[in-house]
Amino acid sequence: MASAFASRHPRLMKVVKIGILVAVVVGVAIQFVPVKAIGSNPPARYKLDAPPEVEAIMRRACYDCHSNETKWPIYARIAPGSWLMARDITKGRSRMNISEWGDADADERQLDKENSWDQIEEGNMPKWFYVFPFHPAAKLSAADKATLKAWLLKDKKEKEKK
Ligand code: HEC
Repeated sequence: MASAFASRHPRLMKVVKIGILVAVVVGVAIQFVPVKAIGSNPPARYKLDAPPEVEAIMRRACYDCHSNETKWPIYARIAPGSWLMARDITKGRSRMNISEWGDADADERQLDKENSWDQIEEGNMPKWFYVFPFHPAAKLSAADKATLKAWLLKDKKEKEKK
């Protein structure tokens, strides 16, 4: 059937073949565009001062974008998806990088924690496109949220607590 179609539409088939060839060539070529952030995990690390269950949730829901301990799966290295991921991770780290909390003072860490709770409460974090389809385990249950809230806000001034 396909060949009958092809012999009836030779010019169209030529256009389709050229289109596929161009797509393949471009698809391969863009893999060589150098994007520094891809695969990068700068050396700073921070030992989270939190109970293990809190750290476990933070690691599975936040660390890929807000620490230097990003897991870069193979699909995160394939352009153009890798460009989007590198952009989000660079942006995420620039707003809050838990791995750099060692250089921050207690007030700065506290501010990050309170902002984190705001983001979680509003449903902004973790980003929905991160959870679905690639990281279903990052989805926060009501219990996860309660655990995080208790830790993130534990040093918040009592009278401001909502
Ligand atoms: C897929 C990457 C990704 C994940 C996962 C993620 N974030 Fe973010 N986060 C971002 C990006 C990108 C920004 C920058 C602002 C924006 O684009 O919304 C950001 C911003 C923030 C900010 C700063 C908001 C502001 O007003 O500047 C906080 C706080 C934050 N995230 C907390 C968290 C917490 C807590 C988690 C885990 C529960 C988390 N994020 C998971 C990517 C991510």
